[in-house]
Amino acid sequence: MSRHSDGRRVALVTGANRGIGLAVCRQLAEQGVVVLLGARDAAAGDAAARTLQADGLAVRAMVIDTENPDTFDAARDAIDRAFGRLDILVNNIGIGCDWAYTAANVPMRLLRDTFEINFFSVVDLTQRLLPLIEKSPAGRIVNQSSAIGSLAGHATPASWATGDRPLAYSASKTALNAFTLHLACALRDTPIKVNAAHPGIVKTDPNPNGLIGPEEGAQTAVALALLPDDGPTGGFFHQGESVPW
Ligand SMILES: NC(=O)c1ccc[n+]([C@@H]2O[C@H](COP(=O)([O-])OP(=O)(O)OC[C@H]3O[C@@H](n4cnc5c(N)ncnc54)[C@H](OP(=O)(O)O)[C@@H]3O)[C@@H](O)[C@H]2O)c1
Repeated sequence: MSRHSDGRRVALVTGANRGIGLAVCRQLAEQGVVVLLGARDAAAGDAAARTLQADGLAVRAMVIDTENPDTFDAARDAIDRAFGRLDILVNNIGIGCDWAYTAANVPMRLLRDTFEINFFSVVDLTQRLLPLIEKSPAGRIVNQSSAIGSLAGHATPASWATGDRPLAYSASKTALNAFTLHLACALRDTPIKVNAAHPGIVKTDPNPNGLIGPEEGAQTAVALALLPDDGPTGGFFHQGESVPW
């Protein structure tokens, strides 16, 4: 890892060896950001980073594994040594929907595992990295959420007509939205902006029937990562529009 960023912003994107996260890395790097591509598997991370390096982009891999929080501290220490700050954190890691299980029958194991990855690990990683983000003159935290975490959506009886809801995934994203709002409040007197993104219905490995590609799906998180100083905080957005909580 080079010793400094030559004045460029530094971003860490988690779960970025494939899917939307990889597209977020490409788009941030194309905007001149030095990108740390998070992956739980070092080889997968290196391989993904090489595809972007081949296009001349400043991207390198970093191991972030929710099952091994030591990797969170190792990442923090490596970023501190190399850059002394972190400007952008995109919490993109997520395990997908299991549509087979509603609130009536979801196994506790699935519910706990989903919360562990989609919620608890995000809070844990963010808290460990916060001292580095506080050293940025314009820190940005983006939580990759989902419209299916919107309680307002679920509370609309008309939406029930579209079928059963997968509780584990939906509720984990609702909790992530709560973290977004609470963290934005806790950091209200700092320059740090904290927002949640809905990427759209994106065609990736867990969602082969997605309606848009990862490039388009990445756009909301990238825009929130690059917000100007007068941009919003404590919001939930899709393509520049507010999503109801
Ligand atoms: N696709 C959609 O339509 C859609 C819609 C709304 C929200 N989202 C959200 O967008 C984000 C990215 O989704 P995606 O569709 O791009 O998913 P994806 O292609 O399955 O990518 C998920 C990424 O997260 C990583 N990951 C999963 N579990 C992990 C763990 N325990 N520890 C570390 N890394 C882990 C995966 O690593 P491995 O390669 O090692 O498994 C992969 O890099 C997720 O938060 C998802 O909930 C997606």
